[in-house]
Amino acid sequence: MDFPLLIVGLSRNFRKIIMRAGGCMLDKAGSTDKPAANNGATVSRVGVLMDVTGDQFTARLDSPKEAATSTDEDKTLGQVGSYFTVRQSGWNTLVMVDRSYRVADKQGRAAHMVHLTPLGEISDKGEFTRGISHYPISGAELHRLVDGSLAKIFSDYGDQDFKVGHLTSFDDIGVHLDASAFFGRHAAILGQSGSGKSWTVTSLIQSAVKSMPNSHIILLDMHGEYGDKEVDGLVAKSPFPADKVRCFRAEELEFPYWLLAFSELTELVINSDDENASIQISFLRSCMTRLRQEANDHLNIGHITVDSPLYYSMEDLIKAVKAANRETSDFGKKKSPLYGKFDEVLVRLQSLLNDNRYDFLMRPKTRTSTESLPGLMADLVGIGDKKASITVLDLSAVPFDVVPLVAAQIGRLCYEFNFWNPHCREFPLFLICEEAHEYIPREDIPRFREARRSMERISKNGRKYGVGLCVVSQRPHDVSETVLAQCSSFICLRISNPDDQEYVRAMVPDAARGTFAALTSLSKGEAVALGEAVPMPVRFKIDLPDPPPNSTDIDYADKWRDGGSTVDVEKLVNNWHKQER
Ligand SMILES: Nc1ncnc2c1ncn2[C@@H]1O[C@H](COP(=O)(O)OP(=O)(O)OP(=O)(O)O)[C@@H](O)[C@H]1O
Ligand SMILES: [Mg+2]
Repeated sequence: MDFPLLIVGLSRNFRKIIMRAGGCMLDKAGSTDKPAANNGATVSRVGVLMDVTGDQFTARLDSPKEAATSTDEDKTLGQVGSYFTVRQSGWNTLVMVDRSYRVADKQGRAAHMVHLTPLGEISDKGEFTRGISHYPISGAELHRLVDGSLAKIFSDYGDQDFKVGHLTSFDDIGVHLDASAFFGRHAAILGQSGSGKSWTVTSLIQSAVKSMPNSHIILLDMHGEYGDKEVDGLVAKSPFPADKVRCFRAEELEFPYWLLAFSELTELVINSDDENASIQISFLRSCMTRLRQEANDHLNIGHITVDSPLYYSMEDLIKAVKAANRETSDFGKKKSPLYGKFDEVLVRLQSLLNDNRYDFLMRPKTRTSTESLPGLMADLVGIGDKKASITVLDLSAVPFDVVPLVAAQIGRLCYEFNFWNPHCREFPLFLICEEAHEYIPREDIPRFREARRSMERISKNGRKYGVGLCVVSQRPHDVSETVLAQCSSFICLRISNPDDQEYVRAMVPDAARGTFAALTSLSKGEAVALGEAVPMPVRFKIDLPDPPPNSTDIDYADKWRDGGSTVDVEKLVNNWHKQER
């Protein structure tokens, strides 16, 4: 597997790259200066294993004198993040350097030691498999990687055309993701504010729809970064191809109240601290089941429960609650046990109905019958009137107190879509939750319970029905542990908060400590990918999205220097009144 002659023709630039990456790739970059007299095994040897445990090896690197080559590149040999192989009795184990340090040997000479994380095995044909089936023993030789093997590992592993970036140390080695692992087994994109998450999401989706034109991606856009919009003559275009994307604002798509699960509705209209809460809940339960039955008699649906996704009229519900609240017997002399128990419920219902921000929920215009549900489901997954691979749901104008409810519904609808779809395996979906910490929190807070439950359900069972979930968050520490623990791929951008780092470190699978420790030193748009979608933990530069989302950093210096545009405050206040942005 050695190619001494090939190397002679390497360009100067390429050799520079090789040197930058320490022991990462080529055997003989230095051997062009010296005759390669030895056989390949000796030339590529760089050290020997001293200690082997289940998850870490320690090796002593040969001193420059012992080493067959001693060039400038040897000075950077063993850099943290570089790769080697351990060879023993026909087995090649791929390892990555986690730590590099020096100790004094018995003669007082400095010995260069490295801690190595085993990543997988490389066959004679250069094929990589994750995990270690044959552990080497101490005394095994440490070698540089054979020419091109790293590029082969990355291009063989993922889907050829689902390229998302390139290695930080090798511009020409592309990083490809395994699409089935990434989309089907849940993913997380984590990083502090401004680290490049939205750009990463955009770049990933752009690459996905290019290589997989029949994808079905649903994107919860909390800040209006991914959709088309026009306010005040300012036009912002979606970063996705116009023929592939469909953008909805919540008020266009409408998530009607009658789709809320019973627990979601009670959360909205019942104060759990109210002493009458349990009476209110049991009355609403029977009342809603009855209303649902009455309104859908003509559909001949056999079994109707309080949670069935069936239309009922809000007016009728309010009428029934009002009647119960005023119920008397004995010609008005005796108050019924329900009398006056619903004052607070009625006030809450009325205030929701009066506030036009909640119209998409409380006063739907188009979704006013059970028959309108298929239309909503089809639009949601991109097979409605206009077909789309990406459905962007712009929730930026949704009042913050109902965001969790809307997110819960979207999560539930996506799950139910494929749960009841006999051909779910032919129609896999992927739901991306931007700013997940805002509605899938770690703590059990009543207001977020339903959103959390619906996303946790996808993360636990979605794989079986072809519903994938991606959580995007700047505060991983605040995101549900269950959801993160089920993610099998992680793209971690810069994270400097120690709490977040610690939390993510505990979550990620086979985290190579060396790669992971780089989290604080990542630059913008640079990430560490871990988990099943990549062959091994890898630090890489994400391809720039083209075009980028509407989340570009504001150039303060430029705007403050030159004054920027004038502001129409009246218009601004008007927008606020109309809730338009
Ligand atoms: N791959 C990249 N290469 C170069 N610059 C980038 C890259 N990705 C992002 N940036 C820069 O970082 C800025 C912020 O990116 P982005 O909006 O994606 O951050 P974010 O992590 O989503 O932040 P927030 O958590 O606040 O939403 C962008 O305006 C862009 O200038
Ligand atoms: Mg963002």
